[in-house]
Order: sequence, then C-alpha cells, then structure tokens
Amino acid sequence: MLRVEGVSVAFGEKRALDDVWLELAHGEVVTVLGPSGSGKSTLLRVIAGLERPDRGRVVLDGVDLAGVPPHRRGIGLVFQDHALFPHRDVWGNVVFGLRMQGAAPEEIERRGRELLALVGLEGFERRSVSTLSGGEQQRVALARALAPRPRVLLLDEPLGSLDRRLRDRLLDDLADLFDRLQVTALYVTHDQGEAFALGDRVVVLRDGRVAQVGAPDELWARPADADVAQFLGLSNVRDGRLVRPEAVRVRPARDGARGSGVVEAARRMGPLVQLRLRLDDGTRLDAAVTALDHPRPGDRVEVEIDPKGIVLL
Ligand SMILES: Nc1ncnc2c1ncn2[C@@H]1O[C@H](COP(=O)(O)OP(=O)(O)OP(=O)(O)O)[C@@H](O)[C@H]1O
Ligand SMILES: [Mg+2]
Repeated sequence: MLRVEGVSVAFGEKRALDDVWLELAHGEVVTVLGPSGSGKSTLLRVIAGLERPDRGRVVLDGVDLAGVPPHRRGIGLVFQDHALFPHRDVWGNVVFGLRMQGAAPEEIERRGRELLALVGLEGFERRSVSTLSGGEQQRVALARALAPRPRVLLLDEPLGSLDRRLRDRLLDDLADLFDRLQVTALYVTHDQGEAFALGDRVVVLRDGRVAQVGAPDELWARPADADVAQFLGLSNVRDGRLVRPEAVRVRPARDGARGSGVVEAARRMGPLVQLRLRLDDGTRLDAAVTALDHPRPGDRVEVEIDPKGIVLL
C-alpha cells in the first residue's frame, strides 16, 4: 500500500537518505530503527511531503505522491515535538483535521468522542493543552492524527520525551490501538526495545541506507553484519561469529573446580540478568540469564554455549 522507491536526499555534501526502498502492507506496523543522524526523520518528512526527494518516489495505493501536497496525502503525523495548537483546547485539537476536511457537525461530534475514548481522555474536552502532562499531550496528538482516518500514520519518536514507566505504558496502549484499528504505521525510534515491541517488521537504517529489514526475531537471530548486531545490543561478535547471549549457560564452578571464567559484572534488567564474563583465554562474553539466584561479580563459573545460538555473520 505504501512504497518508498529508491529515495535519496542530500543536504549539500551530506547524504541523509541514499537509495532507500521500503514497502508497507495494509494494517502493517513497521518500525524504523537507527542511531541519531541516520536519516529517520528525513524519511518520514519525504513520505509526508515536507521534504522533496532528489531521486526516487513515494507511492501510496498506486498513486505517485510527487504532485500531492502534504495535507492531501491522507497521512497522519505524530512527532515528538509536533506541538499541539496551544490556543485550542483538547477538543479543538482532536477535531481540527475533521473540520479541515469539512466533515459534517454530527460526524465531527461522533468521531471526536470516539477518539477521546480511544486514547482514554474522556472528560478532557475543555482542558487547555498547556495544562496537560507530557503523556496526555502525546495522547491528544495521537487522537488528532487518527481522527481524519489517515491511510498511513507516521510517528517520529512519539514517546521520546517521556519517562520510562509512562513510555512502557503508552507503548502497550499503542500496540493495542494499532492492532484494534488495523492502523498502517511507520514508527521511528532509536530505541531497540520500542522498535521490537511495536514493529511487525523493523527497518534498520544506517547512514541513510537500509542496513536490514526483518521481523524482530529474524533480526535478533540473523543480524546482517557485526554493526547491526552491535546496534541491537548483541556484543558477542568475534571473527564473523556471533554468540547470542541467551545461548550462554552459566553455572557456579563446583568446589575445587576452576570453572572456565569469572563474572566481571552483573546487571539486572527486569526478569533478566545480564552477565559480563571473562573467560580464562581472555575473551569477554555477555550472557543473559533468568534465575532466582544468579552469580555475582567475582564468582568463578562454568560456561557452556548452546551451538544453536552461534550465528555466522
Ligand atoms: N534541513 C537540513 N539541512 C541540512 N542537513 C540536514 C537537514 N535535515 C537533516 N539534515 C542532516 O541529515 C542527516 C539525517 O538527519 P535526520 O534528522 O533524518 O536524522 P535522524 O535519524 O532523524 O536523527 P535523530 O535520531 O537525531 O532524530 C543528519 O546528518 C542531519 O544533520
Ligand atoms: Mg529524527
């Protein structure tokens, strides 16, 4: 339904996008993951019609969008700092797009209520947006973008400015909402957790080029190269071989036995503990373990690697 075909954009010497190809099916949520400066926002701006590509084209439902101005593209936008209209209340913000479309008053009323309920902001109609919390503002921005029933929703780090807990909650809400409404969305983030949680597929962008596209499980199991692996947080790469951290088994060395390495650091991440190990041959190895009781820094351990978790890059 949405196709980006060989899009390139340069700013002077800087190639922000370099021959990017991308396809979104109806109802699909694709996340774009890449470090700062990799071209994520530029890609969304090209699709939205806010930036003209030097080469390539954007096609929506079979129509080349080159001559179509932003407000006629049927694309909804939610940006991190895409300010709400400060002089309108919540209601005025949510129904703005419907009014611009010239929708009938009953339709505006009905759709506005529906959207407020959807994002959990019933009763907020008359609140000035400047009195809302960051999370509430992002919900209003989402409702405003969804109200005119866009064909595609583009989101640029919409949760970037929120604290971790709120972000996790909104992330769950978003996933649920996208699912129920069958939204077709392209969601930009530099956070791997966010990209994996939300995306049916993930596009890894690097220096304006698509480094890899795949479902979260595929990327994790077969990153295209050492660089993508590093970016996903897979740091056990040596000589073109990747060891997935969940394939590393760790047992305390039995009394008297030397074991095969020592724990250098242990970091709790929710139910998982990430261990940094130093093997006796000097190699470093990351292990992700779930256990009620895990080895501590300084402990000697027996290390075993499940061969199924070794990936050739
Ligand atoms: N209007 C512009 N003029 C000049 N250079 C630009 C312009 N817009 C973007 N760039 C450059 O293009 C590159 C890609 O920028 P872009 O904003 O797309 O990155 P990004 O992946 O969204 O980064 P971030 O995660 O920091 O938001 C950067 O090097 C940026 O400096
Ligand atoms: Mg950006």
